[in-house]
Amino acid sequence: MSDETLSNLLKEDRRFEPPADLAANANVTAEAYAAAERDPEGFWAEQAGRLDWATPWDRVLNWDDPPFAKWFEGGRLNAAYNCVDRHVEAGRGDKVAFHFVGEPLGDTRDITYAELKDLVSQAANTLVDLGVRTGDRVAIYMPMIPEAVVAMLACARIGAPHTVVFGGFSSDALASRLEDCQAKVVVTADGGYRRGSASALKPAVDEARTKAAELGHTVEKVLVVRRTGQDLDGWDDDVDVWWHDSVDAASTEHTPEAFDAEHPLYVMYTSGTTGKPKGILHTTGGYLTGAAYTHWAVFDLKPDDVYWCTADIGWVTGHSYIVYGPLANGATQVLYEGTPDSPERGRWWKIVEELKVSIFYTAPTAIRSFMKQGREIPDAHDLSSLRVLGSVGEPINPEAYVWYRHVIGGDRTPVVDTWWQTETGQIMISPLPGVTHGKPGSAMIPIPGVSAEVVDEQGEPVGNGAGGYLVLTKPWPAMLRTIWGDDERFKETYWSRFEKLGFYFAGDGAKLDDDGDLWVLGRVDDVMNVSGHRLSTTEIESALVSHPKVAEAAVVGAKDEDTGQAVCAFVILRDEAGDGGADIVEELRNHVRKEIGPIAKPRQIMIVPELPKTRSGKIMRRLLRDVAEHRDVGDVTTLADSSVMDLIAAGASTGK
Ligand code: WTA
Repeated sequence: MSDETLSNLLKEDRRFEPPADLAANANVTAEAYAAAERDPEGFWAEQAGRLDWATPWDRVLNWDDPPFAKWFEGGRLNAAYNCVDRHVEAGRGDKVAFHFVGEPLGDTRDITYAELKDLVSQAANTLVDLGVRTGDRVAIYMPMIPEAVVAMLACARIGAPHTVVFGGFSSDALASRLEDCQAKVVVTADGGYRRGSASALKPAVDEARTKAAELGHTVEKVLVVRRTGQDLDGWDDDVDVWWHDSVDAASTEHTPEAFDAEHPLYVMYTSGTTGKPKGILHTTGGYLTGAAYTHWAVFDLKPDDVYWCTADIGWVTGHSYIVYGPLANGATQVLYEGTPDSPERGRWWKIVEELKVSIFYTAPTAIRSFMKQGREIPDAHDLSSLRVLGSVGEPINPEAYVWYRHVIGGDRTPVVDTWWQTETGQIMISPLPGVTHGKPGSAMIPIPGVSAEVVDEQGEPVGNGAGGYLVLTKPWPAMLRTIWGDDERFKETYWSRFEKLGFYFAGDGAKLDDDGDLWVLGRVDDVMNVSGHRLSTTEIESALVSHPKVAEAAVVGAKDEDTGQAVCAFVILRDEAGDGGADIVEELRNHVRKEIGPIAKPRQIMIVPELPKTRSGKIMRRLLRDVAEHRDVGDVTTLADSSVMDLIAAGASTGK
């Protein structure tokens, strides 16, 4: 971000006070900050009391061997029991857990907590029948249908960590995750509905299974939900099992076993700065405490709220704020399968109106696309049920914030801009809707119990009015425990930068304004944020270089009005490829799509004769970003050959 944009941002002087009635009845009041600061462990112990523990813990936090934390040591619990059974036992079995809305109009289904308990028990029994034992990994590759949530909870119930792979990822991406976590079983569907048509999933699982086998890993069983009814080639009777033949026929009786608080709950893969995605490991007691507390506090959840988080369960937001947080809190939710604009552009707002959604949580990229389409579309719907709006995934620009509050929230609703990461597991920095005033574009301050700072290279706090690195200075319950199978990479990635100080390095840049409120500025590493999704430059470069015509590639994230950042690639072709042919750009874009998935497809690929490198051979992405964002190229004095930029800029302007 340029200094000019930054200082404009910091001049933001609009303020929105919490609505009086919300403040008067808020779940959390201002005292919580001081109480948590006085005694953070006591504070988190109190929050853990929201859960049902089969055995209480002996020690709240064991931080004897940092950065390896143990929260609620000695405690035992079952995550699925906490998300489902206990609500039924407390007499709330008839409460709707999910209003499921499929993409085809009229395809809806309400599932109560009592029904969810039966479904999860049946799926747990089926997984056991398929040979899954406590500790085995199960991959989930599904559309946004109730069975996806049921599968996650069934895994949690039997202590088999799940790894949910976003349904938009390619078979290659799925295969590498299956191999990395050695998944025994995959749960999938024949397909799902996207933009009005059935889009297949099962064939990608078949391919991924073959590829995983080539990598030396065997997937034993594939459990398949029939969602679209589309034809399936390649059914393998030794491996494939229909959900309706197995789960539907299974017993609804299943006794949940209590697991250690540190028992692995799931692995979620996310992009890092190298080509290989990192398997972020979350465990049970601390994670569930963090997810449940923040969902209750940040959204001011009340028993009669209808809550809707539009994320996909393939991302961490779906894990913490569709599955574990809201269900642990016994909330009623909307679960929507499709895209925002199918079959018509007002689809989301129609759902809000019909189901009287009161809390709505989405991403800035979606808000920006609605802004572009014009306010007539949401204005055609009664959105008066809304009372709290949330944002996550990337910085929300002040104009999008104000539009969201004004057009969607009718100026009544606080907007909570929530900063967190796959690694943090829970919201870390956010306003509290009944306590903090809103300031468009700022995530404000850490929530009670969380300690964050903005520091310089030495780890010294920068103070108000200055920028630096965002760090977390104290452990928190939902923190990642390690990178699956790679403790060294865990230490190196997050804890080595400020090792002596023991700070967690988030990889984001941030600035404190004169009031001490925090503005997240974006990644300081080679991770891009496209429509709120994390993508690694190196991962896309590796995909490009795997194409036979490509010699070298450099990828940057360039500013984009719609998606926040967009993938821009600079590619040097191999000599023998000549000019690559007329369709070379499209060919390479599709290659990336095939290797990683549609979200990684570059917006732009420029074929260049050279790449700008320092004398030590490091690609200077900063200069490429200048080209991609149509700026004058900055300081080139550290380049090994400073004429390279002229060649690249000439190529870029002629579109080659
Ligand atoms: C970015 C998503 C600004 C940030 C929950 C972070 C944000 C990365 C915000 C994590 C926000 C997330 N304001 N930036 N409110 N929320 N980010 O792991 O760069 O998919 O490091 O987790 O998204 O992305 P992840």
